[in-house]
Amino acid sequence: MVKAKVGVLISGRGSNMGALLYAAKHPACPYEIALVAANDPDAPGLTLAAAEGIATFAQSHKGLKRAEFDAIIDAQLRAAGVEYIALAGYMRLLSPEFVAGWEGRMLNIHPSLLPKYKGLDTHQRAIDAGDSHAGCSVHVVTAELDDGPVLGQIEVAILPGDSAGTLAGRILMAEHQLYSRVLADFVTRERQPEWLLGKVRERALALPQADEVTSHGMPCFGIEKGKKFAYFTQDHHGDGIIALLVKTSAPDEQAMLIDSDPARYYRPPYFGDGWVGIRLDLGDTDWDHVAERLARSWREVAPRKLLGLMDVAEEF
Ligand code: GRF
Repeated sequence: MVKAKVGVLISGRGSNMGALLYAAKHPACPYEIALVAANDPDAPGLTLAAAEGIATFAQSHKGLKRAEFDAIIDAQLRAAGVEYIALAGYMRLLSPEFVAGWEGRMLNIHPSLLPKYKGLDTHQRAIDAGDSHAGCSVHVVTAELDDGPVLGQIEVAILPGDSAGTLAGRILMAEHQLYSRVLADFVTRERQPEWLLGKVRERALALPQADEVTSHGMPCFGIEKGKKFAYFTQDHHGDGIIALLVKTSAPDEQAMLIDSDPARYYRPPYFGDGWVGIRLDLGDTDWDHVAERLARSWREVAPRKLLGLMDVAEEF
């Protein structure tokens, strides 16, 4: 299994980083920690990471502009081959440039049941409000603080006599359970059939008069009342493959594509030479390329009248 490379950003204790790191030691864990970086060279979490053989980077943010500092961290993460970021007690607001550069690839853990109690002092605020439960949330990081789609939460009962400290201790246990599971799901989501089909569907149905039907148990896309231009195959006849089948536009194209990247392209059984299979389960799919292939395939089956309309639209 190719493991996704995760960079963890911390500012202090780093117990969530530790939880992520130990979960990653299980052979079935789909991610590995490629770098732990801190904005405080004295962050205790750095010692733990280093002792566990993880690469670390520390640089104080003091005296640097936010964007300047973030650019340094960004360069370190990219040099380490990081694909996903997990913020774990990282007490720095991030610059818009940094957030944009990791859009959809950065998670954060927050000690409240979001959208309740964004920001600091979450435990006391939950107690003061008389809530029966507090908890923690893992969410995708967007430009807004502690905002962005929530991917998972654990509720933690507030006990009579709880102080912010005792409650925080129990929530922390929940955090350690939650984070690695959500992160593991997140880094494998791009290999899940439903997610992949969603990406294909979005692109296929954007083509003029395209519709979706099911044929031989496969979701497929065609021109309304017309021919099919794409099939989504998942473990067809037990081949274990998730792929998109599209029409080729030239006689040798199938052979040429297979030749250029034999791990990705293949000759789909039962479909003949006019089609090519594109594996979607390799984890590095270029979705613009898929959109282009779908459009070409659409052109192969579109009636003349529709093609004319598409040509006119493309001129503008
Ligand atoms: C955790 O409570 C986390 O939810 C919050 O900051 C704290 C970090 O603790 N974002 P640790 O450094 O992971 O121990």
